[in-house]
Amino acid sequence: VNRIGVLTSGGDAPGMNAAVRAIVRKGIYHGLQVVGIRRGFLGLLKKEFVRFSLGSVADIIHRGGTFLHTARCEEFKTEQGQREALKNLQDEGIDGLVVIGGEGSMHGALALAEYGMTVVGIPATIDNDLTGTELSIGFDTAVNNVVDAINKIRDTATSHERVFIIEVMGRKTGHIALFAGLSGGAESILIPEEPLNMDEVIFKLQRGMNRGKLHSIIVVAEGATGGMAVGEEIRRRTGLETRITILGHLQRGGMPTAMDRVLASRMGAKAVDLLREGVSKQMVGIMAQQLVAVDLEEVLDQKRELDRSIWELAAILAI
Ligand code: F6P
Repeated sequence: VNRIGVLTSGGDAPGMNAAVRAIVRKGIYHGLQVVGIRRGFLGLLKKEFVRFSLGSVADIIHRGGTFLHTARCEEFKTEQGQREALKNLQDEGIDGLVVIGGEGSMHGALALAEYGMTVVGIPATIDNDLTGTELSIGFDTAVNNVVDAINKIRDTATSHERVFIIEVMGRKTGHIALFAGLSGGAESILIPEEPLNMDEVIFKLQRGMNRGKLHSIIVVAEGATGGMAVGEEIRRRTGLETRITILGHLQRGGMPTAMDRVLASRMGAKAVDLLREGVSKQMVGIMAQQLVAVDLEEVLDQKRELDRSIWELAAILAI
């Protein structure tokens, strides 16, 4: 390859900037030209290209969000949209593309690869729901954001002796809820992967109260059920005072953690190496701390399993 393109797509994830920086710097280090595509696949359809130099990515490693901007693009999901995107890449002289994003973005990457473009994906989603990698960029920062919020809520929960329900992101998966719930010391963690059992949530609350516990924290993944509904049911069935906090997009912003910056830098550099080797239709992953390249089709064929032993441990430790 001679001229590589890079775009960020779907929901932003802290660490995306560090990944773009790594791609630009590693690409230039090897004598390649690097072109940024603004606003993801939408920008690709609108030919929003920016030629990068070493200085273009200065001072972004610590910034959350994506300085390239991102979008969720319906038009690109059509065959016509994908053909047009391919043509725009070819007209710009781009012969290798790095797509940074979550599941939807990897579908887009695969589509372009199937039309003949050389494409490598980098997993970046706070949901951490992609297979083929143990970690996606942004997950560590999002979990830390949630734990930071839980710590603060715990102060006020203790002072007022209330039950706090904290709703976190995760439409289909409970990774954020599980990791944040375990590290934040939550009494119960409700995730879409497990059947909702309100009797058990209430049993645990009452068991805690019986041994003198005056406050409780329950973490709910948005895909499990609504935080409001949980709060209302607890209040109705126990008479306890409940408060609900929906963390929302606060989880997705902020400075990426050092772990996310390291992961993003390594994955960005690996993507450039793969393109230089002429590899396509692959996603960079990390398994047992080693960078790997995984087939994009396989990644998208499988559903990511949640580590049930962590879920069980969280329940034991919340006794
Ligand atoms: O996929 C990342 C994510 O933050 C999910 O956890 C959440 O459900 C969704 O994106 C929210 O999407 P949007 O920012 O488009 O509202």
